[in-house]
Amino acid sequence: MEGVNRVAGCINEIMIKTEGLCKSYHCHTRHEVRAIQDINLHIPKNSFVVLSGPSGSGKTTLLNIIGTLDRPTNGKIFTYGEDITSFSDIALSRLRREKIGFIFQYFHLIPRLSSWENVSYPLIPSGTSLKNRLEMAKVLLEKVGLGDRLDHTPEELSGGQQQRVAIARALVNNPEIIIADEPTSNIDDETSKDVLALLQELKTSGVTIIVVTHDTCFEKIADVVYKMKNGRIA
Ligand SMILES: Nc1ncnc2c1ncn2[C@@H]1O[C@H](COP(=O)(O)OP(=O)(O)OP(=O)(O)O)[C@@H](O)[C@H]1O
Ligand SMILES: [Mg+2]
Repeated sequence: MEGVNRVAGCINEIMIKTEGLCKSYHCHTRHEVRAIQDINLHIPKNSFVVLSGPSGSGKTTLLNIIGTLDRPTNGKIFTYGEDITSFSDIALSRLRREKIGFIFQYFHLIPRLSSWENVSYPLIPSGTSLKNRLEMAKVLLEKVGLGDRLDHTPEELSGGQQQRVAIARALVNNPEIIIADEPTSNIDDETSKDVLALLQELKTSGVTIIVVTHDTCFEKIADVVYKMKNGRIA
């Protein structure tokens, strides 16, 4: 049946679909790097998808295109059944702001801002009042176990704590899709388990999660694991 797939015994609609997705880079005009080639994915809504594979196999490139941070050179990508390949930059940024939360390997927190300011930063464009921003950030920071670190700046936090602030920030817009690129590769094993547990909890609340990781704990609980090699799904 077009547009549906099975996850954990349920019939789910397709959240993200890619058709013949390719991305090439032209370095110094002559040399072409084919970062991803002919990627055809069907990611059902509310699934937990893991992308793994060796360094340079195209995982970040694919994730960035799925997350609308980058555009393919060929092929199409559909989100909620809509071909977003043809979207303008403004439409893509709206989609990103409203539907997608990002978690990065190096956290990407704003250095001089406190935890609560970092978490609530994505709410500024929507005109949310300062009081509500603080309240929402507080709830999320408590959820990730950092209720006592609201006023700390990133340099006053450990790596694991910074990643938890980044996760709280990724959740502030109630995203329907979470994109995470090696979210646990710079944090200790114990905090990695907390991050995994948080992502699992999000899945139970209906979020679609796509994670690039080498961490086999993620593979154990994923609905599907795609192994990438030389820019292709192996
Ligand atoms: N901006 C760029 N310009 C040129 N080549 C690039 C660019 N970005 C990525 N590449 C190349 O595309 C290929 C895929 O890179 P990508 O970052 O997607 O790999 P990856 O699987 O995420 O690797 P890692 O596990 O090391 O993060 C690599 O060969 C890389 O050198
Ligand atoms: Mg990468």
